[in-house]
Amino acid sequence: MFSLKGKVAVITGGGSGIGLATVRRFYQAGATVVVADLSDETKLAQEIDGLYIKTDVSIENEVQFLLEKTVEKYGHIDILFNNAGIGRGIGMMSDAESVDYEVSFKVNTMGVLYGLKHGSVYLSDGGVIINSASVAGLQGVPTYGPYVASKHAVIGITKTAALELSLRNIRVNCICPGTIDTPMVQNNTAQKAINNYVTPLGRNGLPEEVAALVHFLSSDDAKFITGQAIAVDGGITAGTSLGIWSGLAALSN
Ligand SMILES: NC(=O)c1ccc[n+]([C@@H]2O[C@H](COP(=O)([O-])OP(=O)(O)OC[C@H]3O[C@@H](n4cnc5c(N)ncnc54)[C@H](O)[C@@H]3O)[C@@H](O)[C@H]2O)c1
Repeated sequence: MFSLKGKVAVITGGGSGIGLATVRRFYQAGATVVVADLSDETKLAQEIDGLYIKTDVSIENEVQFLLEKTVEKYGHIDILFNNAGIGRGIGMMSDAESVDYEVSFKVNTMGVLYGLKHGSVYLSDGGVIINSASVAGLQGVPTYGPYVASKHAVIGITKTAALELSLRNIRVNCICPGTIDTPMVQNNTAQKAINNYVTPLGRNGLPEEVAALVHFLSSDDAKFITGQAIAVDGGITAGTSLGIWSGLAALSN
């Protein structure tokens, strides 16, 4: 396992799903982890001998406070995983409500932007920032307009930050998960639509499989990788899966 010994990592949305799997993996790899979430994760922080700081990533002051407190307590930040996000506003463009777009942007995009803005102040030179985008940041998804728009923006600001922060050797990448079995997906009322998003590998991903990518990107083994949007999606973005073709063939027979 890539060692993160001596590194201090901040993970937003660390209380559930992909964030939680990453908290546990980073801890096993030797990092000191600060968990930021809306939900109370004091117990989790105790379990990993880390710190919980209540944070709403859509509020700029709270993101700044999170990073300031982390440096105050541990002296430095080496890794920032801007992971907190929401899925909202399932419906056709013709029924779009501006509030769905506003709220999606507030959490998914502005939450990442605040992490990039203040992360660039508080992160040590040579640090790593990873943002949560999605396959919905790489392609359109019918009925997911607000989410798609907010995640496309994440990829744009990731690439821009990577160029700007390269001067300090801070690497900035984003990950693009496909459908991953987390509470976000499990609690989604549009589960049917998600299940129709057929993965060539024939199953949803696990949060641990995404955490493995985040771990690699955070490690020194990835020190020449920056400005990238990397999919971990069971092949969704490779093209239309054979599963869909055979389903269509069966329909036409
Ligand atoms: N699960 C998937 O299929 C999938 C696919 C692609 C991308 N993603 C992205 O991965 C990230 C994590 O998703 P997940 O599936 O683990 O979701 P999840 O719902 O399991 O976990 C999200 C966590 O973020 C926290 N959170 C939500 N809003 C917040 C806010 N304003 N401030 C701070 N914390 C907040 C929640 O409390 C929760 O603990 C999100 O950005 C999501 O968009 C998920």
